[in-house]
Formats: sequence, C-alpha cells, structure tokens
Amino acid sequence: MLPTIDWDDGEVVMIDQRKLPSKEVYVRCRTAKDVARAIRTMVIRGAPAIGVAAAMGVALDVRRSRATGTTQLATEFYRTCDLLAATRPTAVNLFWAIERMKRVFAGGMRVGRSTAELQALIDAEAVRLHDEDVANCRAIGRHGAGVVPAEARVLTHCNAGALATGRYGSALGVIRAAVEAGKRVAVYADETRPFLQGARLTAWELVRDGIDTTVITDGMAGSLMRAGMVDVVVVGADRIAANGDVANKIGTYTVAVLAREHGVPFYVAAPLSTIDLSTPDGSGIPIEERDAKEMTYMGASQLVPEGAAVWNPAFDVTPASFVAGIITERGICRPPFAESLKHVCDGNQ
Ligand code: MRU
Repeated sequence: MLPTIDWDDGEVVMIDQRKLPSKEVYVRCRTAKDVARAIRTMVIRGAPAIGVAAAMGVALDVRRSRATGTTQLATEFYRTCDLLAATRPTAVNLFWAIERMKRVFAGGMRVGRSTAELQALIDAEAVRLHDEDVANCRAIGRHGAGVVPAEARVLTHCNAGALATGRYGSALGVIRAAVEAGKRVAVYADETRPFLQGARLTAWELVRDGIDTTVITDGMAGSLMRAGMVDVVVVGADRIAANGDVANKIGTYTVAVLAREHGVPFYVAAPLSTIDLSTPDGSGIPIEERDAKEMTYMGASQLVPEGAAVWNPAFDVTPASFVAGIITERGICRPPFAESLKHVCDGNQ
C-alpha cells in the first residue's frame, strides 16, 4: 500500500507528490512549520491527507515543546493550530482535524493533565485520526463498490486516491473495492489541469495496482461520454455543504454537467470529515485561488505569453442536483441531501 504519509523516527515523512510520477522522493518534516510548508506547496494534497498531515504537524510541535508548564504549552499549541489552519482554505478536513486536536487538548487541560500527559494525548490522537482515515476509506470502498457495474468504465477527476488520503483512497477506494470484489473495471482519468493530479497521481497509483487506466485530457470527457464509453463517474470532494453541494477540483462541475447530459450517474465519495453542515450551500465554500504560474508554466517552459491575464481557481462547486449519491463510511447518502447528510452525520446508518 502506498506510503502517503507516516511517522518515522519521531518525524513525519511524506512522498513528494509534486515530483510524481518521474521521481519517488520523500520529504521529512521535523516541525509543524515544515508540515505547513508541505501542505501549502502541494508536497501533500487531497482533503483527507491534509487533515491527517495537520494533525501530525500539531503532534510534532507538541512533542518537541520545551514548555515548563501547561499554560505555556497551551499558548504554543494554539499558535501551531493557527499556523496549520492558514495553509489552504477549501478542504474542510484540515479544519476538522485541527478542531479535533483542539478538543482533545482542551479536554486534557480541563481535567488537569500534566505537560507530559497532554503530549501523550495529542500524539495518540494524531495516530488515531490517521488510522481512522484509512478505515473510513476501506468502508467507503465497501459501500461504494455496489454502484460500479460488474463490467465498468469509470471516469474520475483529479486524485482522490491513496495519495489524497491516509491510504487506499475515497473515489479510488471505491474503484479498488470493486476490483477486489472481482469486477472488471477500466478507469478513465482526467488529466486535471493545471496541476495534473489525474495524469500524474491517479494514473501512477492505478497502474501500480494493475488497474486498467486510460488518461484523457479534461476536454475529452464529453466526447467519451457521447460515445457511450463511461458507465459511472466517481470523484472525491474537498467540502460538502449541508444541502449536498460539492466543492472538488476545478473541472468537476463540467464533468457533472456532461454526465447529466449523457445519462451517466455521478457519484461523490468522501468521509464524513468532508461534510460541513455549518455551511448551508456551496456559495459559502471558500474557493482557493492559486498562483498563476501553475497555469502559465510547465516546469521551465512558458505556456502563456506575458500580458495575458490568468484565472486559477483550484476548485469548483457542483450543485447537489447533479449528484446521484454521496458515498461515505456509513453508507450512501441519496437526495434529498439536506436530510440524508444530517442523518448520516448524526450517527445513523
Ligand atoms: O488541490 P488538491 O490536489 O488538494 O485537490 C484535491 C481534490 O480536489 C480531491 O479530489 C479531493 O481533495 C478529494 S481527495 C480524497
């Protein structure tokens, strides 16, 4: 299984996703500042993975702290949380993970834990959060495998795989589980301009697993569907609003509109940590705009002439009405999502 992120000798090690597929190199993080930089610069990316990374980043600094008392530790702790929360705005998993660490820390403080005990609590919580993310991906796969026909051509966008999660993947978890269940699955991976998560990362993961993979440019998805070559679309999500509107990688909305036009079911696979019931609909989801250089350059090659303006939103919002189902670790939510999402988040299956 892919080593997206892990502990090694008291440090956090992550595969450098900017270098894939040509180089398999690892980045070591010794401090929360290192982790924050890794998230901001896309060494690690994907909503659940950056939540896991943030929790580990918090644990790194708490573990290294020389605080002489719990009040000092608390000041440092909240400063670290703020640093990590300022890295990327759209994926709610990041904020969810930080809030979870804060709850554990505050709980420890309330019952008068010592500095060493608080450090152990935070350490254990970061490990637990990572383990749960992997278990959630497996469960998403189990629930989602049923939406994949026995012989299926599945289109996916961006990378919602092992690299975007603790391991195994959400959308790619559904595909992996379908393959493990004996289904014959062929995947079309949108290249996903401008960062090419589909071409570089999804294809890399699936090929390593021996899954039939064809990369297409984003603009080819319409022709592919029109030719009747896609049976189902499965994508991940960065934030799902209370009404079921889904923020995911830029271009996802286009895929959803095409799927609707061609009668192809469009599914979203995501853990509950991606659902944000405090945001009523997609209009309230902050959309990150990234550096124009991601579009204007490919490595050292200039693609866009000086003087041309560039718009580079990293995500878009797909209205709930385009979504056939949201596959979570507790089962598949169906429309009306305002009810099914609340139900599943309340702990009802
Ligand atoms: O900018 P990125 O690469 O972090 O965007 C990632 C995506 O949009 C994924 O599809 C999403 O986070 C789901 S990952 C399981």
